[in-house]
Formats: sequence, structure tokens, C-alpha cells
Amino acid sequence: MTDKRLRTAEERIVERQAEAAAMGVDEAYVSRLVDEFYDRVRANDLLGPIFANAVKGNWEPHLATMKRFWGSMVLATGDYNGRPLPKHMALPGLTPTHFEVWLELFYKTLQDTAPSKEAEDWFIDRAVRIAKSFQLSLFYRPDGSLSNYGSVPDPSA
Ligand code: HEM
Repeated sequence: MTDKRLRTAEERIVERQAEAAAMGVDEAYVSRLVDEFYDRVRANDLLGPIFANAVKGNWEPHLATMKRFWGSMVLATGDYNGRPLPKHMALPGLTPTHFEVWLELFYKTLQDTAPSKEAEDWFIDRAVRIAKSFQLSLFYRPDGSLSNYGSVPDPSA
């Protein structure tokens, strides 16, 4: 067994926080990233209306949730224990294009605000992975079609 597998939960938290600090990421940056990103989302023609419909003008609880979510991921704060997938499953009319635009906006926000290249890479990598897993649950159909996306072209045709 390697040392890595023997680390306790507490050691993993200390390590995560040290990695975040080395990238220049702290709670203040997480807060800034979330505020800046959702300012842009709000102003976006494609994503704005979806959020307007879901948050109904009451942005503060959503921003606070997103700060806890990203804080848990990057700083191991442990204060997010929600289940994001069902929330997205419940959004009507979501397509892969929405995810592309979401990721583009998130990446642009990181490029404009991240304290280091490592931080930029860390956040976009996490977001891409989560967006991919959401999309598998939302759009993948075992018969090879993608709901909301038309049919996957048959390579043999
Ligand atoms: C197509 C792209 C996306 C759209 C349109 C979208 C939209 C939304 C909406 C409308 C909510 C509910 C807001 C509320 O009622 O307060 C929400 C919640 C959330 N979203 Fe997304 N989202 C997208 C992609 C993502 C991605 C890629 C992530 C992760 C990196 C993410 C993470 C979350 C989380 C953590 C919540 C909070 C769930 C909870 O209440 O615990 N979303 N999203």
C-alpha cells in the first residue's frame, strides 16, 4: 500500500487546503469567482432566462450555495452536501449547447480573475468533468440517440 492510500481524511483536507493556497485560492477568491461568473450568466441571452426562471430574482441563496459547493471542492470546507444532478434534471429544455455556453463563460471568468494558471486549470478541469457527467445523465440514451440533441449519425451509413 502506498502512503497516499493510508492518508486519513484529516490529512487529505490539510493537503487539499495546502494545494489551494499554493494556487492562490482562498475563500475570498471562491466568492469573487462565483459572483463574477453569475453576473455573466445573468447577462447571457441563453443562460440568463433559465436562471431567472429558477431563482426568481432571489439570487443570494443560489450564490451562497455555489460558494459552499466550490469551497467544499477546492478548500475541502465540507459545508456543501447537496445533490446537484436532480436540480439540473428538473430544468426544462436543457441542451448540450447550454453546457457549452456555461463552460465557455466559466472559462472566460477564470481567465479574467484566477490568481494563477494552476487555479484556472483546476477549476475548469473540475467543471468540465462535472458538466460531462451531468450530460451523460441528462442526454445519453442506450440506443445511441441523445435526447434533446437529435440522433447520433450512424458511422456505417
Ligand atoms: C447548462 C449548464 C447549467 C445550467 C443552465 C445550470 C443551471 C442551474 C440552475 C437553474 C440551478 C438552480 C438554481 C436555484 O434554484 O437556486 C443550478 C444549481 C446548481 N448548479 Fe447548475 N447549471 C448548469 C451547469 C452546472 C455545472 C457545470 C455545475 C458544476 C460545475 C453546476 C453546479 C450546480 C450546483 C452545485 C447547483 C446547486 C444545487 C443545490 O441546490 O444543491 N451547474 N444550476
